[in-house]
Parts: sequence; C-alpha cells; structure tokens
Amino acid sequence: MPPPSSTRRRRALLGLVLVASHASSALASPLAKRDAVDEGGYYNPTSNGGRWLTYAANSGGTGEPINVVVSGDSDEVVHTADGFYDWSLSINFGSYLLDSQGVGSYAGECLGQTDGERQAANLGDGLGIRNQTELYRENFQDVTYGVCKESAQGGYHYRIWQQVGPEANSSAWFLAASEEESLSQNHMIVPNGYDLGRDEVVRRATVAGGTTSPITNRTYEVTAQNASGPGYFANVTTSEINHGIATDGIVAVLTVRVTSDPVTAKSISAASRALAAPSALVLAQGTALALFTTLALALLA
Ligand SMILES: *[C@@H]1O[C@H](CO)[C@@H](O)[C@H](O)[C@H]1NC(C)=O
Ligand SMILES: *[C@@H]1O[C@H](CO)[C@@H](O)[C@H](O)[C@H]1NC(C)=O
Ligand SMILES: *[C@@H]1O[C@H](CO)[C@@H](O)[C@H](O)[C@H]1NC(C)=O
Ligand SMILES: *[C@@H]1O[C@H](CO)[C@@H](O)[C@H](O)[C@H]1NC(C)=O
Ligand SMILES: *[C@@H]1O[C@H](CO)[C@@H](O)[C@H](O)[C@H]1NC(C)=O
Repeated sequence: MPPPSSTRRRRALLGLVLVASHASSALASPLAKRDAVDEGGYYNPTSNGGRWLTYAANSGGTGEPINVVVSGDSDEVVHTADGFYDWSLSINFGSYLLDSQGVGSYAGECLGQTDGERQAANLGDGLGIRNQTELYRENFQDVTYGVCKESAQGGYHYRIWQQVGPEANSSAWFLAASEEESLSQNHMIVPNGYDLGRDEVVRRATVAGGTTSPITNRTYEVTAQNASGPGYFANVTTSEINHGIATDGIVAVLTVRVTSDPVTAKSISAASRALAAPSALVLAQGTALALFTTLALALLA
C-alpha cells in the first residue's frame, strides 16, 4: 500500500533538506573529516584515530593513561592557556614567575625549564601526534619554587594537551596525571600511580567551597563525572601502559566554572567609570578636536 500523500511530500522535503545540507557542508569544508564523536564538552580521541594513552619516548609505543579531561563546557576563561594555568594554580599545580621587568607568566616546571621527558599524544582532532604543551607539577602552595621541590622529591603532576584541531575543536584540555617517585628514583611512577594522580586532581578540584587562584584571586568550582568502557580503556591492556602499571580505566571529566573574577570585574568597572563620567582631560581633548576640525574645514573651503 502506498503511503498517504502527505507522508510522501514530507519524505520528499526531507530528502531535499538532506541534499541541501550535505551540499552546504561539503562546500564549507571539502577536506574536513567529521568522524570524531562528541561526548559533550570533548570529542572522543579513539573515534578519530587518537588514543587515551600518551606516547612515551623509548618505551616501545607504550604510554601513560590520559585520565582527566577539563571539558570544553567549562567557562570561556578556562579555554585560554592562561585561564587553564590559573585554575591549575588554584589546585596547587604549577608556578608563576616574574621576569626582571616584573612581568608575570605561568609555568609548569622548575623556573620554567623542562627537566622531565616530554611525551606525545593524539587527541583525534586532526593535529596528529604532538608533544605535550606543558608538564604541571605539584607546588606545595609555593607558586615560585614549589614545583622544583616536586621535581626533586616526587609527587603529583600532569602532562597537558588541548583538543583544538580542525576535526575536533572542543577547547577541552586532556591531562595525563600521575604520582611519581623522586628524581633519585628516576621519576618512576609509584604503584597504582596513574589512578592515584587522577584521584588527587579530582579531590583538590572538587573541594567544598571551591578553589582560589593565588595570583588573580579568581574563584573556581568544579563538577566531576566519570567516563569509561568502550571507546575509553575497554581494550587497552596493562602491557600497553608505560611501566606496566594498571589503571581502572576511568577518565574523570571536570567542568570548571568561574564563580568570581576580580580581574574581569576590575576592567569592567574601570570601563564603565570611563563611560559614565568622562574626565576633564577627555572633554578638553574633545573640544580641541572639534575646534581644530572646524578651522581645518574653514581653511579648505
Ligand atoms: C618532542 O619532544 C622531544 C623530547 O622529548 C624532542 O626531542 C622533539 O624534538 C620534540 N618534538 C617536537 C615536534 O617539538
Ligand atoms: C577552534 O575554535 C575557536 C573558537 O572556539 C577558534 O578561534 C579557532 O580558530 C578554531 N580552530 C580551528 C582549527 O578550527
Ligand atoms: C588578591 O587578594 C589579596 C588579599 O586580599 C590582595 O592583596 C591582592 O592584591 C589581590 N590580587 C588581585 C590580583 O586582585
Ligand atoms: C569516579 O570513579 C572514582 C574511581 O573509581 C570514584 O572514586 C568516584 O566516586 C567516581 N565519581 C563519580 C562521580 O562517579
Ligand atoms: C576495542 O573494543 C571495541 C568494542 O568495545 C571494538 O569495536 C574495537 O575494535 C576494539 N579495538 C581494538 C583495537 O581492539
């Protein structure tokens, strides 16, 4: 029995719409692959050629678990590198260094140097395998030298990559967190050190009442969810993991909210003051410009 004509019309219309949307997306970017699966706030690396393990150097292709995601659903400030590092300081990871001019910048390791081995990752975002952006070390609440102490005596740290490639542009940050032994122990990972590293990051991020950056005084609040199973570590074996240390296969997904922002508040109130009450100087400049324009026009005429 043929379907009633209204259904046929709807199907024909739907067909047209599909053809049109296909044509327009093909026009918009003929080369972009669109396989990456959106998990809400980030794309799953395994859906587009990536993996949840880093690539450690000289380790036969093994890697560390990427076990924390700071979701792209986090507030915009956290999408920027400085915003993400500022949040990191609020959970006591990383440092803030002043140069000889007194200009400050965020850094993950001792005096801004890289003393650990770099690892690489493929987040399935079209950028392929690339080195970590930073390694952020525990700072023991000392934003200047604390990370040097972590490097020497061991503790928590995380390696960082951001998912910003053309095939999966979520702005999410992917972290490989772990707890390591001291430098004299060659920075070996402690037993169960990957899951312990992840759990410590989550514990600090989600403390009741939120966290505060010691540099900007911004306050942050974080909600955490777990992701696991197929598409995550379901078929990763312990022998594929660096140092053969097992994981429970859980990825912690954090959403970071900025709950107060003195930095933005300051610039907004400065701007609105300027709008509300132009200073005498600005008024005088305006008057001078108007007079000059009038004179110039009179000369030209
Ligand atoms: C990645 O880091 C390694 C050191 O671990 C270095 O030898 C290599 O040049 C880096 N690659 C890029 C593209 O920066
Ligand atoms: C990713 O998105 C941001 C805006 O969120 C944009 O500025 C950037 O150009 C995009 N990058 C790519 C590779 O599409
Ligand atoms: C942060 O708060 C402290 C203590 O209240 C204050 O001394 C400092 O100037 C503030 N920093 C910024 C950037 O607002
Ligand atoms: C996530 O998994 C960890 C490790 O098993 C567990 O301790 C925690 O309670 C879980 N969190 C949520 C929100 O389910
Ligand atoms: C991993 O497991 C999924 C199903 O859970 C399967 O589709 C996929 O082929 C497996 N991948 C590998 C590399 O074994």
